[in-house]
Amino acid sequence: MTQSYYQRHIFFCLNQRDSGEDSCANHDAQAGFEHCKKRIKAEKLAGPGGIRVNKAGCLDRCAGGPVAVVYPEAVWYTYLDQHDIDEIVDSHLKNGVVVERLVLPPNVGR
Ligand code: FES
Repeated sequence: MTQSYYQRHIFFCLNQRDSGEDSCANHDAQAGFEHCKKRIKAEKLAGPGGIRVNKAGCLDRCAGGPVAVVYPEAVWYTYLDQHDIDEIVDSHLKNGVVVERLVLPPNVGR
């Protein structure tokens, strides 16, 4: 089996819809993304073998927005504030323990 380039990879939907439909950008997604990036950088966890934080376009699960997904576990989250992001960083990204209270229910779609 090949080694994964990053240990974990989190994608934040930052999509803003022009149509007036609700989208993650309407729910402080940018602030969540930036806070996560700042935390990973501050703890020197970025880079190969570490944790990568990426922007994404619409992930098509807008009804649960703002959403983010962590690989390789393919765990989807919804979050409210920086405290939630801190918990995802400390528990899941650093230690592989899923933050159950923030997991997006499987039936949430667009
Ligand atoms: S707008 Fe974020 S998942 Fe669609």
